[in-house]
Amino acid sequence: MFEKIFNGDLPLKGTQVAGSWDSLYNFLVWLSVFFFLLVVGGMVIFAMKYRADRQGAKAKYITGSHLLEAVWIAVPTVLLLIIFAWGYNVYRTMTHAPADAYEVRVIGKQWLWTFLYENGRTTVNDLYVPMNRPVKLIMTSEDVLHSFFVPNFRVKQDVVPGMYTSVWFEPTMPGKHRIFCAEYCGTSHSGMIGQVIALEAAQWKAWSAGKEIGPVPQAGLELTAAEKAHSGAAGAVLTLAERGAKVFAAKGCAACHSIDGSARPGPTLKGVFGHEVEFGDGGRALVDENYLRESIERPQARVVKGFQPIMPTFQGLVSETELSALLAYIKSLK
Ligand code: CUA
Repeated sequence: MFEKIFNGDLPLKGTQVAGSWDSLYNFLVWLSVFFFLLVVGGMVIFAMKYRADRQGAKAKYITGSHLLEAVWIAVPTVLLLIIFAWGYNVYRTMTHAPADAYEVRVIGKQWLWTFLYENGRTTVNDLYVPMNRPVKLIMTSEDVLHSFFVPNFRVKQDVVPGMYTSVWFEPTMPGKHRIFCAEYCGTSHSGMIGQVIALEAAQWKAWSAGKEIGPVPQAGLELTAAEKAHSGAAGAVLTLAERGAKVFAAKGCAACHSIDGSARPGPTLKGVFGHEVEFGDGGRALVDENYLRESIERPQARVVKGFQPIMPTFQGLVSETELSALLAYIKSLK
């Protein structure tokens, strides 16, 4: 019965990490139940056993017990350290995406989710992902704080304007899984709802090629008519990186940045992604999405050693979609 009470209402487990979180959660619940019974039960029993029947009876004077004190310091300390180590372990697994993860870029906006795929497709509110393969989301917002939450996967991450955050998961259950926005973001916050559609290998292949994929299992998700699946229109011609190359050309980036390692007024972009750069002041940083974003929006913040701070800001001149494509392009310059 208790199993039903505590587990019955947890969402489906759509990933490995969901099972890990549930175990930790159940441990915490049962630990709390145990200590609740111990403390409150003990209190009730003592209150009955040691009650004074007569008025005016004097309580006995009790002196301290070092053994008792040592026990009630040691036991909670050990238990809390176990919870900390356990939680940290699951959290670390959840936050460190494998290097070979399939990447999707996510843009939150009042009040919908846009997904940009490597092959150039774009979908709104429907996130198509392959089963049994790590998927990493690189997320940002066009306006205010949002939070990307998939209860079935037990993953939740803030989506913040002006920077990139990421989350990853490996779907183990095919079908549709609800996406919620978990950060109040204005009038239609509660309507900022989408779904992750985890596809089996064959369907994933078909979807990637822009073909019809047939019915997808619901995985416990009932859709209202208003939320009917968005088709995720096929027919994209350019990959995300190719779109980024167009932005690169259109914004005149090539005037200062080469893509083949040759010298220009600015650093070459060949092979920079994922590597460290050194700045004029001796500092260093790993070139990732957030560093590149800073370099595009606030180029003077950190200037690479050996170069002049001559680049103008592109803040407000590139849209979030263009920026995502641009970063995919820079990442592809090996
Ligand atoms: Cu977006 Cu709440």
